[in-house]
Amino acid sequence: MTNVALITGINGQDGTYLSEFLLKKGYTVHGIRRGNPQQDIKSKNDIHLHYSDLTDYAELVKIIQETQPDEIYNLAAQSNVKISFERPEYTTLTNALTPLKILEIIRTLGLEKKTRFFQASTGELFGNSQEIPQKESTPFYPKSPYAVSKLYAYWICVNYREAYDIFACNGILFNHESPIRPENFVTRKITKSAARIKKGLQDRLYLGNLNAKRDWGFAGDYVEAMWLMLQQDKPDDYIIATGKAHSVRELVEFAFREVDIEIKWEGEGLNEVGKDTSNGRILVEIDPAFYRPVEANALVGDSSKARELLGWEPRVTFEELVRMMTRNDINLLFDN
Ligand code: GDD
Repeated sequence: MTNVALITGINGQDGTYLSEFLLKKGYTVHGIRRGNPQQDIKSKNDIHLHYSDLTDYAELVKIIQETQPDEIYNLAAQSNVKISFERPEYTTLTNALTPLKILEIIRTLGLEKKTRFFQASTGELFGNSQEIPQKESTPFYPKSPYAVSKLYAYWICVNYREAYDIFACNGILFNHESPIRPENFVTRKITKSAARIKKGLQDRLYLGNLNAKRDWGFAGDYVEAMWLMLQQDKPDDYIIATGKAHSVRELVEFAFREVDIEIKWEGEGLNEVGKDTSNGRILVEIDPAFYRPVEANALVGDSSKARELLGWEPRVTFEELVRMMTRNDINLLFDN
């Protein structure tokens, strides 16, 4: 008998890496994605795709009833922090209520003993935290509608674990990136722009807060931690992070170095620019449109608990990650 996994957000970055990981482990993988319901269940690359919208409770019941999953990974979300300030209600409905619905379905279908549940929680829960690095015991203080919606999701997961004995885990994931990260996240925006500027396809890169610090790891490493959490004897919550913080400014410097451009910074605040040291050309400028109404503090996670209990540790360093992403973006340009 093979294990059956159901993944929401199957077509996102994490869904892509996790499904590859589980297929290699011999799982039967089902995934939910938005799209044409007429197509119902389709099989693509050995993944059974279910076209549905997660706001549709009845369809979700049907999918879980039919697939009888051993493990459910809830990766679907409106995951962009900036967009959450513009679409707070949609963000809340998607991020907060989807895990509630899945947990409620597990309970009402009597799957408490069978189905294990993973919730993609976030380092953003610690938005205004004064403790650095953040641990599982650090008090939450969310600083965006996104983070507030994820706070509900975190606690409903804990609540169903305690109230109904469901094997439900929160992976408190800090930023995790890859070559398939969409461009509305800063890593991919920067690596893609560095490649395009190098090739003469773009003049400048416009960014928001250069001083923001984040703990950036590789998505491929993080999906392994998700799986490990569901293989333990007891459900629990774990921080998954590299433990190293870097600024957006450093990210720019590293990515441009990969295309043999050395950046030097001049000016301050909104007038700060990044210039190519070899010819003085301005390549990076600030656009206040990319600032957020409030910004989380330096986010950096202490994943000692995951290291100790799950035997998990990140393999790819920040430098390797930026190199992997920038080289991929260069290759994509040369392929086209
Ligand atoms: N997106 C973006 N675009 N961010 C910028 C820009 C820009 O032009 N300029 C500066 N930044 C800064 C943001 O202000 C933020 O401090 C940092 O770059 C990272 O932004 P994002 O890449 O958009 O990610 P995030 O940290 O807000 O959220 C990501 O990580 C969380 C986990 O810590 C997302 O993946 C979330 O879904 C996830 O929960």
